[in-house]
Amino acid sequence: MFRIIFKFREAANSNLKEDMRQEMTNVMEAIKKRSSTRGYMEAPLTEMETNQLIHAGLQAPTAANKQEIHFTILQDSNPILKELEEEKNRLRGITAPEHNFYYEAPVVVILSADSTFRWGTLDAGIAVENMALAAEELGLGSLIIGCIYDALMGEKKDYFANALRFPDNYEYKIAIAFGHKAVSKEPHTYNADAQITYL
Ligand SMILES: Cc1cc2nc3c(=O)[nH]c(=O)nc-3n(C[C@H](O)[C@H](O)[C@H](O)COP(=O)(O)O)c2cc1C
Repeated sequence: MFRIIFKFREAANSNLKEDMRQEMTNVMEAIKKRSSTRGYMEAPLTEMETNQLIHAGLQAPTAANKQEIHFTILQDSNPILKELEEEKNRLRGITAPEHNFYYEAPVVVILSADSTFRWGTLDAGIAVENMALAAEELGLGSLIIGCIYDALMGEKKDYFANALRFPDNYEYKIAIAFGHKAVSKEPHTYNADAQITYL
């Protein structure tokens, strides 16, 4: 009997190790393969896909485990996206944009955080990258979006904070678009020598 239980545990452990190895491989592959997507198909995301992306953001670490990041989820058809696009273009003097700021992606998520919390921006950055990597693993495209900063932090800050249902004293930190890739490009290259110092 004990022998059987032992054998069972041994098998369960080795399955777990195999799962963990598999997950680790997926993370490294997603990191290597991820690249910004600037062109999406019309097909919407399933509810499960959207949930998985949001949970990847929620699972990101936060300073002191404060879990302060708020996620506002918008579908492409949401009129606030159009208002944000118009405000961004007004501030930048753009009259004939070639595409909107989220490249017609079917889902846009706006991350906000408590404006008084020192680590809010960093926590949002970690969460958004978790979401981008999750999208890559799900075979979806993503684009991290900072170009709406002035629109969301300018004279209409309170209006947009209210429209996007930010919690009290929260402000925009970063956004991310998701959808099925209509275009693809190679991941960016980098100059490791310029960016690394070994001491
Ligand atoms: C904080 C941040 C803000 C960004 N904002 C925008 C943006 O507003 N529009 C855009 O097209 N790309 C934006 N990007 C994507 C970068 O341009 C892109 O990550 C970079 O060029 C490297 O390319 P890759 O993501 O394909 O590796 C942003 C990326 C980061 C990290």
